[in-house]
Amino acid sequence: MPVSNLPAFDLSGRTALVTGGGGLLGPQHAAALAALGARVFVADIAQDRASAAALRVIAETGNDQVMGCLLDVTDTTQIEALSARVGPLDILVNNAAIDAKMTAAPGVANGTRLEVFPLEQWRLEIDVGLTGAMLCSRTFGAVMASQGRGVILNIASDLSVIAPDQRLYRQPDISEEAHQPVKPVTYSVIKHGLVGLTKYLATYWAHRGVRVNALSPGGVFNGQGEDFVSGLSQLIPMGRMARVDEYRSAVQFLCSDASSYMNGQNIVIDGGRSVL
Ligand SMILES: NC(=O)c1ccc[n+]([C@@H]2O[C@H](COP(=O)([O-])OP(=O)(O)OC[C@H]3O[C@@H](n4cnc5c(N)ncnc54)[C@H](O)[C@@H]3O)[C@@H](O)[C@H]2O)c1
Repeated sequence: MPVSNLPAFDLSGRTALVTGGGGLLGPQHAAALAALGARVFVADIAQDRASAAALRVIAETGNDQVMGCLLDVTDTTQIEALSARVGPLDILVNNAAIDAKMTAAPGVANGTRLEVFPLEQWRLEIDVGLTGAMLCSRTFGAVMASQGRGVILNIASDLSVIAPDQRLYRQPDISEEAHQPVKPVTYSVIKHGLVGLTKYLATYWAHRGVRVNALSPGGVFNGQGEDFVSGLSQLIPMGRMARVDEYRSAVQFLCSDASSYMNGQNIVIDGGRSVL
């Protein structure tokens, strides 16, 4: 089993769960933890993506204690059942979210705009990105508290500390503002909310040995359009988006004893964007 040569980072014998683990970043978090020897449950509402991600993590890390599983973070029955199945966790990574689509239909008021933002969409996105993190923390965190140890990591965003720059999403061929797509209000509310949840939980269970922190990644390059990438890169002092694996070492730090005195914090890793 591969383990770190820095003892504080060693996760041998620890059990972790990553929600929304079948997407872009979830497998990176899972690989970061598996590489340090943790047993990792890669959980997603899409079981097939979770299982495929687990296999990729096993192939990369050589740690065969990585399992894909089904979990809808909005479903308390599923959360309770998974908790009973996996037993006490040492590490919970609340990573699941709905990635809001911002495509524009020609001539139609864009549905991402605040003036017409559908209430059902607001509820759905908040349910997954914010309520889901609370529900998973409630169940898995309570077991951690009863064991006297555990770590919860909430995956927020650079938009947990700054507002979106809506110019990034503008489409030059659309003249009317009402038709222009925007980053939806839910994203900001969820990500700022996760920081609040982090602080709440960090003080709630500190005396029971449970630490809770947030990681706020900046945008990851994943084949986005040229205009978007160059526009965003201009807002980032380092002049580029993140590579997909650039959050791994922060996850390892925050989920291991290497961060044993860190609690209630939000680490922003964004190439310097939010300090401008
Ligand atoms: N990719 C980025 O550039 C970026 C930047 C900053 C923050 N983030 C945050 O990182 C996290 C992961 O982002 P990503 O890019 O991997 O997103 P993604 O869309 O690729 O993955 C999200 C995963 O969550 C799953 N999911 C959706 N609803 C769910 C539910 N009800 N229960 C369980 N799983 C559910 C999806 O199936 C998907 O696999 C998100 O919280 C996102 O906001 C991403």
